Order: sequence, then structure tokens, then C-alpha cells
Amino acid sequence: MVDFTLTDEQKALRELAHDFAEKEIRPVAWEYDKDGTWPIDVFKKAWEVGLMNTHVDEAYGGPGASYLDGCLIEEELSWGCSGITTSLGANGLASAPVALGGSEEIKKQFLGMLTEELKFASFCLTEPDAGSDVSGMRTRAVKQGDKYVINGSKCFITNGGYADWFTVYAKTDPDAGHRGISAFVVPKDDTIVVDKKEDKMGQRASNTATITFNDTEVPAANLLGEENKGFKLAMMTLDRTRPGVAAMATGIARAAFEFATAYSKERVQFGVPIAMHQAIQFMIADMATKVHLSRLATWNSAVLLDQGKRNTLESSHAKRFAADTAMEVATDAVQVYGGYGFIKEYPVEKLMRDAKIMQLYEGTSQIQRLVIARETLLPRRAEEPAAA
Ligand code: CAA
Repeated sequence: MVDFTLTDEQKALRELAHDFAEKEIRPVAWEYDKDGTWPIDVFKKAWEVGLMNTHVDEAYGGPGASYLDGCLIEEELSWGCSGITTSLGANGLASAPVALGGSEEIKKQFLGMLTEELKFASFCLTEPDAGSDVSGMRTRAVKQGDKYVINGSKCFITNGGYADWFTVYAKTDPDAGHRGISAFVVPKDDTIVVDKKEDKMGQRASNTATITFNDTEVPAANLLGEENKGFKLAMMTLDRTRPGVAAMATGIARAAFEFATAYSKERVQFGVPIAMHQAIQFMIADMATKVHLSRLATWNSAVLLDQGKRNTLESSHAKRFAADTAMEVATDAVQVYGGYGFIKEYPVEKLMRDAKIMQLYEGTSQIQRLVIARETLLPRRAEEPAAA
């Protein structure tokens, strides 16, 4: 049976997130965007009301929310501000490899840390010369007795400047390509240096940093999954987090659509509100359809995970379509506002800047198409069950 009806609990969760976005995020979002300051007060409140770390299992102090629940929350929060939401949700990205590959002890220690008090964790995959091409990474982890020693730099790391621990991918067999990468959970210490905070076009309230590991030592027990199996762990993580990114993109698109719709009813040109002109009506109609389809694709990709099924294809469909939609709808919203849309005083200017990153992070729209093409041409992969 196919049924898109949310349960009463899901409706309440969505309402909680919407209320928080409306009262705690929207009123401050444009201010945080201006200076690119770290919205710690918003994070404290979000942590207190239980809108952070919703993915963490009850065994480690979290609510163990489903992937669909997570998407409902992320769309609402991102409707408020996707920059703040990127930072609010980044613990989920860092935690997924721990939940998938960590021992019971490691899960208790690191996932428990996030639910005991407000703490941040970062996912360290990308490097200056290894973005889309993950296996080109140069960070090294060398085993010495019962520990690993990590050296290398990671860039574009969300919350990197504030993280209490990191999930780090490094080469343990540099000659083996993607089969020589391992994943580790690494607590912050003095050997880990934050080199640079990026000054970004959009999502300016989220922290994005370059991090260097200088002879950073971690116990061998901090290896996530098996040695040299880190690439698959990264891919399985992205399968699990791309639905949430798609939900965030849907939130941006919905916000832009709502602003454009309201404005089109107020703005009078040629003697009537511009919403009376068919040129504007068709833009509004296209926006409405794209927001609707983004949400459907997002929910579909999340529900498959909740059913324990592999969702590689569907999560790339959702991420690709919702990200491109966010950019298209935000751009069209600026068009509906006309010259005013280009002015910072009006809300859609920020949304257009924020939307751009959705087509870039967690796999560009081109990488999503690559995954879709491979999954379509080699459907065998899609039939493999989701591991864990
Ligand atoms: N699940 C499980 N295994 C998978 C998989 C999946 N979804 N996708 C691939 N694999 C496996 C393959 O089966 C293959 O296994 P074998 O070793 O047994 O052959 C192996 O992984 C290699 O797969 P590919 O040949 O497809 O690998 P590739 O080198 O061609 O790369 C890619 C594939 C899709 C391009 C991948 O590199 C990719 O997703 N790149 C984008 C990376 C990305 O999204 N980066 C964003 C970082 S996170 C971020 O943005 C941070 C932030 O803070 C917001």
C-alpha cells in the first residue's frame, strides 16, 4: 500500500520543528547571514527542545527518530534558514559512520557525548584535491602498535571550527585506491588545527573550516568498520544523509515559493496584482509542482531506508531533483520580485545564495547524475540489500 499520510506523532514533530523555525530561526536568520556569525543561542535552544541528534538511537540517549521523521524536521528548519540547519544537522552526518561501523563502546562514548550535552561532530571526507573523487584523498593513517597516527588536511568541513570529535577518512593502503581507505572517529585534541574558516556566498551562518591533523593519534579501537573498507562506509553514510539534504533543499524552495506567491498578490503592475498575469502564474505553477515533487522524492528515499532497503538510486534522485529545484525556484522567486529581488532588504536574495550549495555539497548534481546513470545501467546494485 502506498500512503503519504503522516501519523499524529509525525504531524506533531513537524509542527514542533515549524514552530521553532518560525519563532527561533527566521527572526534572526538574516542577521546571522550578514556577518556569518555562529548562532550558538539557536543551537542551545534546538538541543534543549530535542531538535538535534534525532537520529541517535535510544540506547545512546537519543529519540531514535526514523529517516522520514528526520526529513520532516529538516524541511521545516531549512524553511527557517538552511545555513543554521546545515550546522544543526551536521552531527547526523558525522554520526552515521559511527552508528554503522563503531563498536558498542565507541557508540556509547561518541553518540552518547552528543546527547548528554550540546556538542558538535564533523564529517571529514573532502580534501583540497579530492572532492567528487573521494579515492584521490591523501590523508594517511599509519598503524603503530595499538594505535593509528593520522596526518593530512580536510576542507569544507561543516562545524569544523567547533567540533568536539571528527569522523575522519584516511588512506591506510595508499596503493589500493578506494580499497585502501579507512574511517576513524577522532576526538578533538591539540594536534588538530583549524586552519581556516571559509567566507561563503550563502549559508553563511554555518561554520565551514579547513582542518589539519598533525600526527594525531587514535586508539586502534577507533577504527570504524574494517580496515580499508572506509570508502563503502562513506557511500553508505551518504545514502543515509542525502534524503535529509533533499529535505533541506525542499525547505529552501518552499520558502522561496511562499515569498514569491505572497509578493505576486501584492505587487501591482499594469493596474492589477502581478499574480493576475499569466507569465507570473505559470512561474508560480512550476514552482508549486517542483516543491511538491521534491518532497515526494525525498520522502520516498527516506521511507526505503526506514524499511531497511538500499536507497542509493532514490536518494540520488531526491538530492539531485530537490537541489536543482531549490536553485531554480529561488532564482524564479527573485524574478517574480523583479529588481527588488536583487536587493538584500528582500528575503529572496538570501534564499538564492543559500540554494546554490545544495547543488554542491554531499555530492554535486553531476555526481548524483553519475550515480543515477550507474544504478540505472547496472540495476543489480539497486537490488542489493542495505547493509545495517
Ligand atoms: N553503498 C555501498 N557500496 C557502494 C556504494 C553505496 N552507495 N556506492 C559505491 N559502492 C561501492 C561499489 O560497489 C564499489 O565496491 P567494490 O570495491 O567492491 O568494487 C566501491 O564502492 C567503489 O564504487 P565506485 O566504483 O562507484 O567508486 P567511484 O570512485 O567511481 O566513486 C562516486 C563513486 C559516486 C563518484 C563517489 O566517489 C561519490 O559519491 N563522490 C561524491 C563524494 C561526496 O558526496 N562528497 C561530499 C562530502 S560530504 C559534504 O559535503 C560535507 C558537508 O559538510 C555538508
